[in-house]
Amino acid sequence: MSFGDASCADHCPMARSGFLRSTAAAALAGIAGSGLLAASASAQTVGTISPSRVQGKTLVYPLPPNEGAQIDTGNGVIIARVKNAVYALSITCPHRAVTALDWNSSTKEFHCPRHGANFQADGELIDGRPDRSMDRFAVRRAAGAIAVDTANLLQQDSAQDAWIHAFVTVA
Ligand code: FES
Repeated sequence: MSFGDASCADHCPMARSGFLRSTAAAALAGIAGSGLLAASASAQTVGTISPSRVQGKTLVYPLPPNEGAQIDTGNGVIIARVKNAVYALSITCPHRAVTALDWNSSTKEFHCPRHGANFQADGELIDGRPDRSMDRFAVRRAAGAIAVDTANLLQQDSAQDAWIHAFVTVA
C-alpha cells in the first residue's frame, strides 16, 4: 500500500516509512479502554486527554508540547504529534470500524488485534487488510489549540487531498 507517497513528497511533514523507523520519538499508546498505555521514553509522551472545550461536534484540545499521542477514548480521538505536525486520528481500525487499535511499543506502530494490520504514528498504513490508512479528522488551529471537527472524518481513499493536509503545524 503506498497511498500518499508520490503526492506527499513535497509537502507532507513525514515521509511514509521513514519516521517511525528512524526515530524513537514517535511513540503512541494502546487504545480504547484496553489499559494498554505504553511506557513513555524521554522524547515521547503517551497519555490520555479530554477536550478543553466542546462546541457542538468540534472538540478543542491543547496542542501537545512533545511528540507522541494523547488518547481521548470517550470520543474516539487520538491527538498525535509527529515532528511539527499534529493530527487527530480515529481510534478505530479502517478495516472494521468496530475494532480499536493497539499500540505496539516494540515496533512503535499501531496494530490491529483483529487481523494484524499495522500503521505508522501519523496513521499511514504499513501493511494488512485495510485498503486505506487510519482515518483523520478535519482539524484547524484555534488559538494555541487544535480544533477537531468530529463530524468530518476523512478517509484516505475517498478524500485523499484533504486527508493529507489534515494536520496543524507547531513550532
Ligand atoms: S479489523 Fe483491523 S485489520 Fe481487520
